[in-house]
Parts: sequence; C-alpha cells; structure tokens
Amino acid sequence: MKFFIDTASLAQIKEAQDLGVLDGVTTNPSLMAKEGISGHDRVMKHYVDICNIVDGDVSAEVIATDYAGMIKEGEDLAALHPNIVVKVPMTRDGVKAIKYFTGKGIKTNCTLVFSAGQALLAAKAGATYVSPFVGRLDDVSTDGVQLIEQIRVIYDNYGYGTEILAASIRHPMHIIQCAEVGADVATCPLSAITALFDHPLTTIGLEKFLADHKKAATAVKA
Ligand code: E4P
Repeated sequence: MKFFIDTASLAQIKEAQDLGVLDGVTTNPSLMAKEGISGHDRVMKHYVDICNIVDGDVSAEVIATDYAGMIKEGEDLAALHPNIVVKVPMTRDGVKAIKYFTGKGIKTNCTLVFSAGQALLAAKAGATYVSPFVGRLDDVSTDGVQLIEQIRVIYDNYGYGTEILAASIRHPMHIIQCAEVGADVATCPLSAITALFDHPLTTIGLEKFLADHKKAATAVKA
C-alpha cells in the first residue's frame, strides 16, 4: 500500500519524505488555507515546491465547480509538473471533467466520495484515484473502512484500474484496517504515519539489547 501525506505543510512533507516511506502528497483547499497559502501565483508556486520535495503523485484540487472552469484550472495545474494529479470533486461536472482529463492523459483524483455508487462513477470516467473519506464517515456513525471494502469488491469485479485512495485517515488503526481490506493508498496526517513506528516492546527490547552488549563489553575489558 502506498503512503501519501495529507498536508500542505512543506516542513511536514520534508519530515515524512525523510522517513523513507513516502509515496506522494494530497492537499485540499482547507489544508492550503491552514498554511496561509492564497492567491493564484502563491498557490501554484506552493504546488511546485511540494513536487520538488517528493518524487510521487501530488494532488492539487480545483476550486472551480463548473465544467469549463475545472478544465481550465486542471490544465494549468497539470502543466506545473508531471507529478501533479488534478483533484476534482464528485459532482456531475466533476465526473465529466475527469472523463475529459482521462482522454488527455492527465491524472485525476476524484474527491469527496462517500458512497460506492460515486466510486463506480469515478472509475467509469477513468479517474486515476478515487478518494473515499473514511474519517468523515466514521464521524457520522457510518463505517468508513466498510466503504473501502465495498469499493475494492466492485473494482475487482470489473477490473477497474482506478486506485482506491483512503482519505480522511485519522489514526494508525485506520491505516491498518484500510490495508487489510485492500486500499491501494492511504493519505494520512504525519502523526498517523509516525505512530506506526512505535511499540513499547520494541523500545524495551532495544534497551535490553544495548544494556547486555554494554555488560558483555565491560566483562571482556575486566
Ligand atoms: C484528502 O485527499 C482529503 O481532502 C482529506 O483526507 C480530508 O481529510 P479530513 O476529513 O481530515 O479533512
């Protein structure tokens, strides 16, 4: 399973890249706003900065909601860097825009997906990625991981090439559960990725190995 980081923070992207397990980045307008990135030129430069840190797909979301606007914005974003993936909302115009981008060889990520039917439409339009929002479904007492499982079955039934990008991941168990049901990608906050490293028995075990090594070295000297 690929690991993407879900942030527009260059510092966090660099930190995740340094871990050696990062495959890409997803952003959205809220994450860009959180970093104080606004205005056309700054936004475009920020995407290029992200692409220069990570050697993998970088999702950049369109703001337009009409077909013509999405096409114009998406083409401008795609021209920034070969790793840019145009992120398009799951709407009627969005699905049409995905179909258009697919025809042009531009990679897409269909976002704000909350049902299997929406995921089926994204795959039929040829989306590179579909983003079901696991955490936001859990927030409204609906099993987000179950949706990933359902989409996996549907895509496998028909051999759709669209990759399932589990989004709105909140904690390490989400990552593990999404891996168990066959998500292709999980896009996660840095904290959820780094939490995977930790286990108290690893810490205790390493301390004991090092203490025993030190004891043996002292005994040889004596
Ligand atoms: C990523 O592609 C999504 O925009 C993001 O994961 C949403 O996460 P949130 O529900 O934590 O805002």
